Amino acid sequence: MEPSTSRRAGATVPPVLLLLACAAPDDTRLAPEDPAPVVQPAEGPANAPIAGLSAEWQDRYEDGYRAFELIYGPSRGLGPTYINTTCVSCHAGAQRGPDVVTKMVVMDGDEPAADQSALPWGNTVRENVAAGGETPILPPEGVEGLFLSVRIGPAVYGRGYIEAVADSEIERVEAEQAAAGVVSGRINRITFSATDADSEFHDHVAGETGLIGRFGLKARVATLDEFAADALVGDMSITSPMRPTEHPNPDGVTDDNHDGVDVTLDTVNVLADFTRLVDIPPRPEGILTGEGDAAIGAARFAAVGCDLCHVPTLRTRADYPIPPLADIDAPIYSDLLLHDLGVLLIDGIEDGDATGTEWRTAPLLGLSHHATFLHDGRAETVGEAIAAHGGEAAFSVTAFDALPADERAAVEGYVLAL
Ligand code: HEC
Ligand code: HEC
Repeated sequence: MEPSTSRRAGATVPPVLLLLACAAPDDTRLAPEDPAPVVQPAEGPANAPIAGLSAEWQDRYEDGYRAFELIYGPSRGLGPTYINTTCVSCHAGAQRGPDVVTKMVVMDGDEPAADQSALPWGNTVRENVAAGGETPILPPEGVEGLFLSVRIGPAVYGRGYIEAVADSEIERVEAEQAAAGVVSGRINRITFSATDADSEFHDHVAGETGLIGRFGLKARVATLDEFAADALVGDMSITSPMRPTEHPNPDGVTDDNHDGVDVTLDTVNVLADFTRLVDIPPRPEGILTGEGDAAIGAARFAAVGCDLCHVPTLRTRADYPIPPLADIDAPIYSDLLLHDLGVLLIDGIEDGDATGTEWRTAPLLGLSHHATFLHDGRAETVGEAIAAHGGEAAFSVTAFDALPADERAAVEGYVLAL
């Protein structure tokens, strides 16, 4: 007589594997039913910690890196629907990609249609299922106007500099742009929606409105701890105290194989700390000062107005908890504001206050480590990325195109070295 399937599974699992399966969810080993590991290099050309960290922050960087590379399987809370199983699947070595997130929206011409009822589970494709989930969230067939777009997981290095930037700086640049009338960036004012945040980096509480969004391609999240919690649940279906609820899904599954919330607040915080502590990849000498080989590129970058949006530096808060990032000029080459770059770059997705043609000015950090450029990787060179800028940036592209070929090449070389 055949034993029942569940009995047979139980009876053939050796005791040592059972032990592993019961290990704490944050154990870095793989549980037996987990998928095969994605092999990623622990060391890469662009994932060093910020120089001058204390031993405590250095330890935090290392713990954070381990958490960032951890692969989640069903025993750790994967499922019911998810995109991938580890942060490094989309941010390999803290860099860009390789995996992507696919977004979908029903369009009515150049605008999102009022009726999005064809997408009852939201605008994110979640193609994988586990832990009782049986129906992936895929683009529906036969829906008129359905528009798909891709977002490559951006690099996460240098994000501590972005978080450290003082609110007053972003407000200052927004006001200066409005007064000058050339470009018209605006802050994505958002609501803090995490229920149980830690107070080391900020004291925001759930429901607090009017915060300055600065993370995500449309600046829809204010802080790195909230982004880490959002990434855990949104990309990997891992719930945490800051995001305790599984995503709505076609099978109506409300919990997975890991009872209740899947990870602790410390896991969220250590992941956030990793993204705070990885440094901007080293830049060649003379780049930041615009001297030597960089002189012409830096001068023309400013002359054609790239620097109106890609603002070279913004001042950071004096009380930012990571000392090397406090009270400095953060060289991020972004105003962190939303700009309308026109229909060429449309994705139709509204994120917080951002419209379907608005994007946060991409910070220009470590571009030589990118295989492709722009949110969906459509540009293979910096020149192609510039050519795709329209809308508010059209004047700048026209001015760039009018430069002699050697000066255009100097701007492209300068941007690539940032
Ligand atoms: C399936 C791919 C995928 C996975 C897995 C993933 N991310 Fe991301 N990540 C993205 C994409 C795409 C974006 C841009 C999202 C947006 O604009 O909303 C992003 C954005 C980010 C950002 C903001 C960067 C910026 O420039 O504002 C951070 C920080 C981040 N992810 C951290 C994480 C962490 C931590 C994990 C693991 C818990 C993770 N991500 C897992 C794809 C992924
Ligand atoms: C009106 C504001 C604005 C101006 C002016 C502007 N940019 Fe951008 N830039 C953006 C935004 C917003 C993005 C993000 C677009 C996207 O990802 O689809 C971007 C993206 C980029 C990227 C891609 C970065 C990446 O990580 O893939 C490069 C390169 C770039 N800009 C260079 C330039 C250069 C060079 C100039 C001047 C010729 C310029 N930009 C002018 C707003 C601007």
